[in-house]
Amino acid sequence: MEFNIVAPRFMLVGGGTAGRIGEILAKFGLSRPLVVTDPVMVATGLVRRVIDPLEKAGITVGVFSDTIPEPTDTVVVAGVQHMRAGDYDCLIGFGGGSPIDTAKAMAILAMGDAPMSAYKAPFAADRGALPVIAVPTTAGTGSEATRFTVITDAARDEKMLIAGLGALPLAGIVDYELTFSVPKRTTADTGIDAYSHALEAWVSKRATPFSDALALAAMELIAPNLLTAYHEPQNAKAREAMMLGAMQAGISFSNASVALVHGMSRPIGAHFHVPHGLSNAMLLPAVTRFSIPAAIGRYAEAARRSGFATASDSDERAADKLADGLAAWNAALSVPTPRGFGIDPAVWQAKKELMAEQALASGSPGNNPRVPDKAEIMALYDVVWGANSGKDLRNDPRLAQPRRQARGRDRRCGRHRSRHCALAGRGRRRCGAARSGRRGLRQSCGRPHRGRLSRNRRRLRYCRPLERRRCGEGGDSGVSRDRYRGQQRRHPACQQPGRDRAGRVE
Ligand SMILES: NC(=O)c1ccc[n+]([C@@H]2O[C@H](COP(=O)([O-])OP(=O)(O)OC[C@H]3O[C@@H](n4cnc5c(N)ncnc54)[C@H](O)[C@@H]3O)[C@@H](O)[C@H]2O)c1
Ligand SMILES: [Fe+2]
Repeated sequence: MEFNIVAPRFMLVGGGTAGRIGEILAKFGLSRPLVVTDPVMVATGLVRRVIDPLEKAGITVGVFSDTIPEPTDTVVVAGVQHMRAGDYDCLIGFGGGSPIDTAKAMAILAMGDAPMSAYKAPFAADRGALPVIAVPTTAGTGSEATRFTVITDAARDEKMLIAGLGALPLAGIVDYELTFSVPKRTTADTGIDAYSHALEAWVSKRATPFSDALALAAMELIAPNLLTAYHEPQNAKAREAMMLGAMQAGISFSNASVALVHGMSRPIGAHFHVPHGLSNAMLLPAVTRFSIPAAIGRYAEAARRSGFATASDSDERAADKLADGLAAWNAALSVPTPRGFGIDPAVWQAKKELMAEQALASGSPGNNPRVPDKAEIMALYDVVWGANSGKDLRNDPRLAQPRRQARGRDRRCGRHRSRHCALAGRGRRRCGAARSGRRGLRQSCGRPHRGRLSRNRRRLRYCRPLERRRCGEGGDSGVSRDRYRGQQRRHPACQQPGRDRAGRVE
């Protein structure tokens, strides 16, 4: 296996570390910073946590504080003008994902005269005019550690994903004490954003052993602390865990990419100005249920690591609990549906097709374990429009695996005609565990079952190892030939016509 690893060169993590920003600048020989932040950070005085120590160290700090949530290319252009008017040698992105993304985009845009849209993925935006040091104040985007920036094309209402080393911060400070003042709604939205980064990186087709380890670690930190941080904003342990989990999830998806949730979420944000984490939350339970059939083992493991399921739950049960658990989070965190958010139903319908096209064009849905076409994405937008309860989604036929996909390689059970055979015991061993590597089908049968054959006939026809054992041609499993005496059938390799139980020649 071959893969890349990208991450910032230096990260300082811990409560109160924002005050040590000067050390980081000194480490890299930087001394003329422009702080890129938003008006809330200035009004609340939070930005002083980095400006004061720098000024104390005799460093003159410039401030550009006109960034907006879900930043646009026009704001980035204004930022570049501000930057060019001064003599700066680095940018400090201070705030939530929006100011950090603005700082990254400013560095990339300042490389030339092209518009922001020229840098959108799949273009590799590997160059930045100035290094960026990121100091997040939300536990969500992980932008402090990613090679992405997300900028809205204001003229076209399109959230553009810009990817490359130019968007990767040189260094970052991850200080959870900056998140104590995050409002409840933003705590919930950013927390779900962080969890969806971990989950999408974990199930992504581009996942690597490196991204996997961080995704699992992030889920283990975020899942048990999300509701605590929401209900108890001053809970230091929960805030610390969320902050670290968000950063780990950021590094993970920076290397594995995100998938369908993010692909579908960006157009909702761009057209209806729904905060990024909130639109993810609206989509997460439905998209998870839609995707489970294609990566049931991964979703099951995510459920177990997140505490939604236990080790004794089967993969089917665990994955089911994950989808239900995510819907329960939405209820607990008061996540509205798009309808509940107040979006005009006529406009939603009118934009649905364009949103699906934009989602596909971003490339993120292609990383999903179950890759949807345009019609399926439009159907998913229909599903999430008014439904986010676990029960609604469980019974929604639009989330079920279509028959044509259920056939063939992934089909597990000819007898029960289901990929998720709910039968316990022998039935499950035969059909439920094919891809999870448990005993049973995988060991005894190298091929999927295809028809409504009796158990015996199915084995004879498809279970090559067993056939070999029966005729003695190379079987070495310790299964006694005597055990199968009386079943008559022989392996084709022994050149003798076999007979089925009824004595018919095969
Ligand atoms: N670059 C990436 O890898 C990446 C990943 C995911 C999302 N994003 C982008 O990040 C943006 C969202 O960032 P976000 O979710 O962090 O929100 P945000 O930066 O837009 O902030 C949301 C609101 O919370 C306020 N806020 C932030 N920190 C605060 C604090 N400590 N106390 C009080 N108020 C505070 C902000 O002022 C703002 O009003 C979106 O544009 C999204 O597309 C980027
Ligand atoms: Fe995100």
